[in-house]
Order: sequence, then structure tokens, then C-alpha cells
Amino acid sequence: MNASIKPIAFNTIQQHVLERQRRLHPEATGEFNWLLGGITLATKVISDQVRRAGLVDVLGTTGETNVQGEVVQKLDVIANETIAASLGYRDNVGIMVSEEDDEPRILKELDAKAKYIVLFDPLDGSSNIDVNVSIGTIFSVLQRREGIEAGRVMDHILQPGYQQVAAGYVIYSSSTVMAYTTGDGVHMFTLDPAIGVYRLHRENITMPPMGRTYSVNEAYFAQFPKGIREYLKWTKTEEAGGYGQRYIGSLVADFHRTLLKGGVFLYPPTRKAPKGKLRLLYEANPLAFIAEQAGGAATDGTQRILDKIPAALHERTPLVIGSKAEVDRVLSFWQS
Ligand code: AHG
Ligand code: MN
Ligand code: MN
Repeated sequence: MNASIKPIAFNTIQQHVLERQRRLHPEATGEFNWLLGGITLATKVISDQVRRAGLVDVLGTTGETNVQGEVVQKLDVIANETIAASLGYRDNVGIMVSEEDDEPRILKELDAKAKYIVLFDPLDGSSNIDVNVSIGTIFSVLQRREGIEAGRVMDHILQPGYQQVAAGYVIYSSSTVMAYTTGDGVHMFTLDPAIGVYRLHRENITMPPMGRTYSVNEAYFAQFPKGIREYLKWTKTEEAGGYGQRYIGSLVADFHRTLLKGGVFLYPPTRKAPKGKLRLLYEANPLAFIAEQAGGAATDGTQRILDKIPAALHERTPLVIGSKAEVDRVLSFWQS
């Protein structure tokens, strides 16, 4: 072949998973890659809908309210049904849990084949859809537990976050970017719309250990626990050395910035959400897995997010997540 002709070399997410599995988990069966393909396919469809939101009928609300008590946006439903349909074809997925579904969807009674449980927030940041601000999809993957009798579906679902076998998110923004971890570091891919593949652009991402950026909705300042208010006041003092405040209002976007630039994101308890607003199973747990894999930390103010034993499907939790030193600093105020 003419040496001057360079093949278009790039690493897709499927190739990346396979290569790492061959190197780090030779016993892997490729099952996870098959599942991941269902998620990446669905997010490509969602990305296309998001890009054309003003041109196709995906804006606005459905007029319904979901189990969370939130008004459902059309794109919430489109994203939810797209992911459910795409995962439905993956015969190794037994159960799906979605922020938008009251109950789990049991695709197949859990058996040796349908061993995966996928939990997801199909469209995060719904309030930002109609104003063209970054939104995202968050997913978490568990495996069924051994020795659970048939029908006890919740026993398979309500596992602590440290049991996750994979987690990731997609952010639909100026570009569509996917980050995932299977416990061997955090890796990031950009969707190439010309050929419809996610191409590797950063491997083994580490979160900056420090970061003078805090991300919180300060409109609720008066409702926050005293220690949180003390921390927020401290950030504005000379001694703090100059903090910036950033809040996009889409967890995925605020987390993505924190992962890459450092700092801390907080959603503390408020009067309206005494247990916090964010959901444990498909928002806090997957992002906490990613944060820790990148050297960061995630807590609910009293314990590590990944150690929490879920008691309910749509359980909410306070969340402080980001650079380890910054999370520790918030805790030092909150627990004082
Ligand atoms: P979702 O759109 O999936 O319900 O999530 C919205 C969440 C999260 O994305 C964001 O961090 C938070 O809501 C913003 O809440 P406030 O508007 O109360 O700040
Ligand atoms: Mn969300
Ligand atoms: Mn959502």
C-alpha cells in the first residue's frame, strides 16, 4: 500500500472496551460491550433529537407529571423510550430502572444470561431543554446478585454503589461527549457526527485535586444546613483566596466541568428536598463511581455515596462531589 496514504486511525468506545478487557480482564466475555452498544446507540439517537430540537416536535412538556412529581418534558419521554427500546434488544439486560418509570421494567426474569441491571436518568437537566443549555444522560450498571429467589427483583436493584460494574454519562452540548468507567479509570469519547461513532479523546482522566470553583444553587442558601452556609460564606472571604461560582442547572454539565477543571458541586438538603433533590441510584451513584475513579470524592455529608444502602427505587440523597480536598473542606464545615 502507498505509504503516504494514512488510514483514518481512531479508537471507538467498543474497541476501547475490548482492548482493555483483553489486557486487564482476559476472562471477560464481551457481554458488557454488547450492552454498552445499546446505550451508545440510544444516546446517538437522543443527540440527534437534541440537535434538531427546534425543528422537530420534541420541545415543551407532555402535560404529565412523573413519579418524581416533576412535569415531564417531551424529550424526557423520547430519551426514556429510546434507551428502553435499544436495551430491550440486548439479551443480557434483565431489568431496567429509569427516573421516568414508576416501577422497574423487567425484560427477562434474571438468569445466567440476563445478568445486567441498567439504571438511568434518560434526560438530565430537563429544565434546560427548551433554552438550549447542555443536558445529558446518566447510566449505571449492576449485575444480578447470586442466591436471590425468583421474583425478588428489588433485592437485585437495591445494591450499594460500590457494586456497580460500570457507570457513565453523555453530555449533549457543543459536542456530544461520553465518559465511562468500568473500574479501570475514566475514559472520554466525542461523538463524530460524520460517521456516527464515539471516538476516544481522553483516557485515564484524573480530576484536579484542588479547585476554587463551587457549584450550587445559592437561591436556597437560607434553607441549607448551617455548616453549608458557613462554607459558602467562607468561600467569599479574603482568606479563601478567590473562589468562582458556576451553576448550569444540569447535573451532568456541572459534574463534567468539575471532573475536568476541579472544584466541588453541592446539592445539600433544602426545606423542599430534606433528603436532597438528586436521586441515589441513577444520578449520585454513577457520578460518584466516576468521581472516585478519577481521584475525586462523593459524599452525602455523613457517608461515602458508594457505601449507601438504597432503601427505595427513587431514593434521593444530598450530594457533595468533586475534588477530594474540596469535598473534605466542605465536610469540615458541615460536620463542625
Ligand atoms: P432531571 O432533569 O433529571 O430531573 O435533573 C435535574 C436536576 C439536576 O440535573 C440539576 O443539578 C438539578 O436538578 C437542578 O436543580 P435546581 O433547579 O433545584 O437547582
Ligand atoms: Mn437528573
Ligand atoms: Mn431526568
